[in-house]
Amino acid sequence: MEESDSMNIQDVIFRRISVRTYQPEPASIDDLEAVRRAGERAEALTEADMQFHLRTDRQMGREIKGLIGDYGKTIHAPHYIVLASREREGYLTDAGFRFEQMVLDATALGLGTCWVGLMFKEASLRSTLGLDGSWRMIVLSPIGRPLEKSLTNRMLRTLAGSKGRKPIDQLFFWQRHGEILPGSVTSNQRLMQVLEATRWAPSWMNRQPWRFVLLDREILVYKMQCQNREGKDYNRLDCGIAMCHMHLTARALGIKGRFKLGSFEVPGLSGAEPIGKYILENKLL
Ligand SMILES: Cc1cc2nc3c(=O)[nH]c(=O)nc-3n(C[C@H](O)[C@H](O)[C@H](O)COP(=O)(O)O)c2cc1C
Repeated sequence: MEESDSMNIQDVIFRRISVRTYQPEPASIDDLEAVRRAGERAEALTEADMQFHLRTDRQMGREIKGLIGDYGKTIHAPHYIVLASREREGYLTDAGFRFEQMVLDATALGLGTCWVGLMFKEASLRSTLGLDGSWRMIVLSPIGRPLEKSLTNRMLRTLAGSKGRKPIDQLFFWQRHGEILPGSVTSNQRLMQVLEATRWAPSWMNRQPWRFVLLDREILVYKMQCQNREGKDYNRLDCGIAMCHMHLTARALGIKGRFKLGSFEVPGLSGAEPIGKYILENKLL
């Protein structure tokens, strides 16, 4: 999402939901291409090679469509966007970070999306896309005009436990894990808007595995769980998504920072996996 569009980023974040039922008619090809390109041009956290492939329903092939949706339900849509990546340190977090930028661009254009982790064997999808074995298939999203007022969609969101989010005080801490945010933070409206938009990030099964410790000039990002299937830890994707919400909202509100992936000791907690730090240009308070 371009910096000039970022004024309404919070609206877009709160408007986005997972859409699992679509109008059968294709969306505008210009819009779909614009979304795909937004993914390819998205701000990145690593130098991993990534490709965003736009496919029609027919091009996806029956074999693959039967496997879409590891929640046990095939999602029918006129188009799909597939993210392929080469492996590199931090690539899953980065994939989450980049793909969510694209998802938000799609939302801003009125298009529905739904993160679908690619847990199944990758070979058939890779050959459908004409890619060689150096590429990993990370995630895909159906994309198209949402079927408004769809009862099925509402039911599926309820089944996926999508409606709520953990409260701020279970996700964001001050100086060390478990330490509740002081009044100087909770009364800072700009900062609270950033945390609220981050809290609203989608995650696999809505598990919200990410946690954040706010320091004077940094925000530490780490995760509590490991959902590892076929060598892919979905919770790293989840962290990248939350980091995308944090970064886009902070930027829109004039808080300047950049993420640096890497290891650190999580203050006050052993056993969590460090993901990275949001390094701020100015003091947080
Ligand atoms: C990495 C990842 C994988 C997901 N995989 C699926 C999936 O296979 N099928 C599905 O229906 N939803 C999937 N979701 C969507 C989540 O269930 C959804 O984002 C979460 O419940 C929050 O709901 P919301 O997106 O409507 O806000 C996935 C989300 C993420 C982030």
